[in-house]
Amino acid sequence: MSDTLNQLTTIVGAQWGDEGKGKITDYFAGNSDYVVRFQGGNNAGHTVIVNGNEYHLHHIPSGVLYKHPVSVISNGVVINPKELINEINSLIDKGITPNLKISDRAHLIMPYHIVMDECLTLHQGELAAGSTKRGIAPVYADKAYRHGIRIGDILEPAIFEEKLKRSYDFNKKVVTQAFGKKFDLDINDIYTDYVEYGNILNDYIIDTQVALYKEYKLNKTFLFEGAQGMTLDVDHGLYPHTTSSNTIAGQVNVGTGIEFNDKKRIIGVAKCYVSRVGVSPFPTEINGEESDFLRQKGKEFGTTTGRPRRVGHLDLVQLKQAVRVNGFTEIAFTKLDILSGIKEIKICDSYQILGKKYDETPGSLGKIRLAKPNYISMEGWESMDQASIEKISKKGFDFLPNALKEYIYFIEDKINCPIKIISIGPQRHQTILR
Ligand code: GDP
Ligand code: IMO
Ligand code: MG
Repeated sequence: MSDTLNQLTTIVGAQWGDEGKGKITDYFAGNSDYVVRFQGGNNAGHTVIVNGNEYHLHHIPSGVLYKHPVSVISNGVVINPKELINEINSLIDKGITPNLKISDRAHLIMPYHIVMDECLTLHQGELAAGSTKRGIAPVYADKAYRHGIRIGDILEPAIFEEKLKRSYDFNKKVVTQAFGKKFDLDINDIYTDYVEYGNILNDYIIDTQVALYKEYKLNKTFLFEGAQGMTLDVDHGLYPHTTSSNTIAGQVNVGTGIEFNDKKRIIGVAKCYVSRVGVSPFPTEINGEESDFLRQKGKEFGTTTGRPRRVGHLDLVQLKQAVRVNGFTEIAFTKLDILSGIKEIKICDSYQILGKKYDETPGSLGKIRLAKPNYISMEGWESMDQASIEKISKKGFDFLPNALKEYIYFIEDKINCPIKIISIGPQRHQTILR
């Protein structure tokens, strides 16, 4: 396989997020004309490491480190403008000037959405997902209520004032009257701050739907970068322990206005174990020393919140669902260096729930809470030190340890999807194409 892209290529998470989407997007982005985020907001944290320099991206697509591709934040994304400006400035400080376009239709995270997020988490108790407290559920809810504010609105002061009043009043009433909490945000301060953000971001804001379509017709290449992962999808994930957007590849059309057709290539990014930051049933979770080891070696701490990530064995019930609902044409399998040196690798291939075997994730919360993993064991592969990682990265697939190749063949067969990209380190070049 070469690293040439189809005209439309999508890269999405196959598990609970943090699979390495940023790394895989960065790997391909140099050959793309546009790299587009199409859902989620700054709940996402994507790490890209190039030449030893580490970058953490939250709103901006992971193609930004190259000069060529245009970075696009499209309509399906929710934006915290203050944080976006900080993100742009921190890239500029590192010598990268983003070539960025923002859809005028993208919704804005307002300060009261963050207050609401806190209230909702407390209110939802056991049913909360353990949100990143970035205001994601409230901003998508306001969009659905139809009193949300789009980024284009802050460029039109009269419209902004009209909309802000409705949205502010609603959120203030819910916080103070429904939740009985303090609400000390001043509407005039918000207005002034957001108009100023609009002034700063003005040059980036366009109608991306039309602009991207024109470029699409000119045969330009697009890389769509997902945030979160299939199990956090608000429809297909472990609801209510999800995020509030659709995270699967089908969202590209809705979140950008670009139609999907037979030119599609859909890469699912999957980690060779799983991690979960936040609250939900987690059938293959491991605890104690084994999990501490994996968490430390895999550096499993949230890019956005710094929270320790829960970790567990690879779950093929989850991965098979991701292959099916996304229509993956291939998998990018990450972090294989982290499992190296472990004697026995456990893989979950079905759940046991109330004495019955399940090959698919049940929609029932009651059932998934009771799910116990059925494991298959495979022989592990030898430890990979930096020198062997560098050697294999240069020489390619044939030079991977035999047990690791067997493991890859076995998984492809089980999930019925080829593993074409293999990641054996966090750096751009530590990637093998097959
Ligand atoms: P994303 O949210 O899917 O983009 O993933 P994150 O960036 O939040 O988390 C993935 C972490 O794993 C980051 O720190 C990456 O630098 C790192 N990473 C990605 N691929 C590999 C790999 O193959 N091996 C190792 N050791 N680290 C990786
Ligand atoms: P990336 O793009 C991992 C999780 C939160 C919480 C749930 C809802 O880096 O893979 P939200 O703030 O969206 O309302 O939180 O979703 N979550 C993520 N977990 N990676 C992410 O993004 C996540 N974005 C949200 O921890 O459980
Ligand atoms: Mg992440």
